[in-house]
Amino acid sequence: MQPRQIETNPAPAGSVMNPNKALWEKGDFTEIAAFMRQSGEALVESLGVTAPLRVLDLGCGDGTTAVPLARLGAEVVGIDIARNLVEAGNKRAAAGGLRRLKFQEGDACNLEGVAGHSFDMTVSVFGAMFAPKPFDVAREMVRVTKPGGRVVMGNWIPNDPTFVSQVLKISSAFTPPPPEGFISPMTWGVESHILERFGRAGVPKENISMVQDTYYFASPDKSPTQMIEAFETFYGPTMNALEAARKDGKAEEFHNQLVELANSQNKSKDAGTFIPATFMRVTVSV
Ligand SMILES: C[S@@+](CC[C@H](N)C(=O)[O-])C[C@H]1O[C@@H](n2cnc3c(N)ncnc32)[C@H](O)[C@@H]1O
Repeated sequence: MQPRQIETNPAPAGSVMNPNKALWEKGDFTEIAAFMRQSGEALVESLGVTAPLRVLDLGCGDGTTAVPLARLGAEVVGIDIARNLVEAGNKRAAAGGLRRLKFQEGDACNLEGVAGHSFDMTVSVFGAMFAPKPFDVAREMVRVTKPGGRVVMGNWIPNDPTFVSQVLKISSAFTPPPPEGFISPMTWGVESHILERFGRAGVPKENISMVQDTYYFASPDKSPTQMIEAFETFYGPTMNALEAARKDGKAEEFHNQLVELANSQNKSKDAGTFIPATFMRVTVSV
């Protein structure tokens, strides 16, 4: 069964805005990314990036992976659909003196203006999975990557028992079903879909590796409850679910389920937060 998912809910009626863009501009993902910096850096370290490389970070947010990639000396272009996150990323690049790091607006479904075979590596960590046309996304990631280069994706896994998958599952239970034809972003965590999408982009299955890995949501001083409050206030998908729950008089029930989840998965020994979340790490040799 396809997982029911709510996280790319349409924009309010009457809006002409791209709903995918509206969802991510609605909140402020920087407030969530604050819990993800440590794992972003660890993931980048594991990629073996060296200075002359040119890297695309797609669905980059404010640079959780783009900033450490640039610190390693790579020339990095961060592309994201949300204008506020592109602005935040460019501020972080300027503050860090990272002159070879540029953020720009763009849609992973159609990277028009980005030349073919122009990156040694294309990275997308919980980013391109949220674009609505997955076959177009796979085709574009392969198109812009040089032959001999790599595409690396991090994707959440449907029905996984760990934190993010469960946040999205709880959220879906409080939200009306998505529109007809909607493809759940979580399908990017399923091996058969990954093979099919990159296969249609011309990549044989021998060139695709898929392994489960762990990201940590970490804060030394914010509690799991404070992190859930950040999700409810700043993370578009959770904001939408809370709005729907509120309309049904179920806001408290929704909040309590999220807090219980976060507390039960917290591994921190003190007042802070350290919550593991399993994801599918996909590496494609182009
Ligand atoms: C969960 S956040 C992850 C951000 C960042 N990769 C990180 O690890 O902090 C998802 C990101 O994907 C971006 N995004 C969603 N749909 C997109 C699309 N169609 N094209 C480009 N970016 C997109 C969102 O704006 C958001 O920044």
